[in-house]
Amino acid sequence: MSEVRTYVVLLGVPGAGKGTQAKLLEQSTGLPQVSTGDIFRYNLKNQTELGKLAKSYMDRGDLVPDDVTIRMVEDRLQQPDCARGAIMDGFPRNLVQADAFDKITAPDGGVHVVPLINLEDDETIRRITGRRSCRTCGAVYHVVFNPPKIENVCDIDGGELYQRDDDKEETVRNRLFVYYKQTSPLIGYYFAKGVLAEVDGSVPITEVQQALLALMG
Ligand code: AP5
Repeated sequence: MSEVRTYVVLLGVPGAGKGTQAKLLEQSTGLPQVSTGDIFRYNLKNQTELGKLAKSYMDRGDLVPDDVTIRMVEDRLQQPDCARGAIMDGFPRNLVQADAFDKITAPDGGVHVVPLINLEDDETIRRITGRRSCRTCGAVYHVVFNPPKIENVCDIDGGELYQRDDDKEETVRNRLFVYYKQTSPLIGYYFAKGVLAEVDGSVPITEVQQALLALMG
């Protein structure tokens, strides 16, 4: 029998802080962050077939097709660093993906906890439009709420900070629409399974992190 693994699924609107918190949880728990958005962006940067396919969907703020995304996650979870589980950031994102994720993780103990990071839409837009990310390591900053020590330079590796192509206000509004239509049904799905836990995402980053760590026990 395989060892029981811990899978944490972070839910929340675009900009709620999933990526920020996943990186912090990775540091404190040793479980790797598995971000489907980051994997797509890596492929985009390296001009792979997957990257080219994902680009048109991402530019519009739509979801990349399920078959491609599910296969990609399945492969990622077989990597040795996922031997104890993973912090899922951006997957699953609809009911088809959630069902597939249940099947993938069932032999390893299933989903452990699903924190829903709550945030108002207006705050989401403010956060996303001020976000800057490192081109090399992917670290996430905000020009006001979480600025780097030197403007446009990553504190961790000195990489250049950039604004994501899909962070334009028009695309963000479609991403929110897609979230409410396709991703929000997962709230009921995981509530019914007894693993959903709500967290206030409007408080400072360190306080959100403490709330998440408390959930992980
Ligand atoms: P993805 O990269 O997953 O984007 P998202 O879900 O829209 O989430 P974001 O990365 O925008 O926000 P976040 O919640 O991580 O917030 P962050 O921590 O950065 O997906 C992008 C695209 O890829 C999708 O549109 C889709 O096309 C495709 N895709 C991805 N997964 C897919 C899937 N499973 N299926 C199909 N397609 C998929 O924080 C935001 C900002 O706020 C930052 O600047 C941060 O510094 C700041 N901040 C964070 N927390 C706080 C706080 N507590 N107080 C103040 N500021 C804060």
